[in-house]
Amino acid sequence: MLELKNVSYIVSDKKILDNLNLKFIPGKKYAILGTNGAGKSTIGYLIMGLEDYKPTSGKIFLNNIDITDKSVYERAKMGITLMWQEPARYEGLTVYVYLTLGGRLSVDKKSLFDVMEKVGLDPNLYLNRFIDKSLSGGERKRIELASILLLKPKFVILDEPDSGIDIMSLDMINNIIDYISSYGGTPIVITHREEMAFNTDEAYLICAGKILTHGPTDKVVKVFKNICNSCDHPNIPVTKELKLDGR
Ligand SMILES: Nc1ncnc2c1ncn2[C@@H]1O[C@H](COP(=O)(O)OP(=O)(O)O)[C@@H](O)[C@H]1O
Ligand SMILES: [Mg+2]
Repeated sequence: MLELKNVSYIVSDKKILDNLNLKFIPGKKYAILGTNGAGKSTIGYLIMGLEDYKPTSGKIFLNNIDITDKSVYERAKMGITLMWQEPARYEGLTVYVYLTLGGRLSVDKKSLFDVMEKVGLDPNLYLNRFIDKSLSGGERKRIELASILLLKPKFVILDEPDSGIDIMSLDMINNIIDYISSYGGTPIVITHREEMAFNTDEAYLICAGKILTHGPTDKVVKVFKNICNSCDHPNIPVTKELKLDGR
């Protein structure tokens, strides 16, 4: 289980996250919902432990081990991944060599083909291509995602997977979420679009760095639609956590 306990994050006197408690239990699929600027990506960066993203107070635990002071590299080795909005870095290798770490990652052909299909690249067309300028930024991003999925990380944070240089379709994102679940991983989808959350079981709704509500995704989405879509004070803190019936 991945857990944030009483996590706050303050930058130059600005409280970006305010005493958050979140739990991610293996076997479930999660969404972190909220309007732009709510603090969603910051939660992802703190979980991953990116540079300059350390809780000002509170702690992060993975299977009851305190990882608050662990590096990105250590967290990655422990099975936490943030789907980087970044294309494959290495040039001059074929996609096949890149994905199998030069043959060091023992992966059967079926898994390789499966993962390529999940990220929307025809393995017959792409596995023997070289990673170079002939691939688009979007294709490289998909190759990077395939390389992450092949390592079967335990917790995969997908930050706004429908945005950036390569617009992924909702279907593709849902397939990727299911794939992560199928090998026993826990997907955590960060999004401001409720339709992105439909393939998850539980959701946290974030507003102004606080948890507005959490619970089964369908109920949280209703609150999001009823309250956030017509909110006249976006990201001005609420004073108490809402009940799921919106009170
Ligand atoms: N390093 C930083 N310095 C100052 N403000 C920041 C920093 N990182 C994030 N913020 C602010 O914190 C808020 C939440 O940001 P972010 O987590 O990116 O929101 P979201 O992903 O929900 O759109 C925003 O108002 C953003 O401008
Ligand atoms: Mg964001």
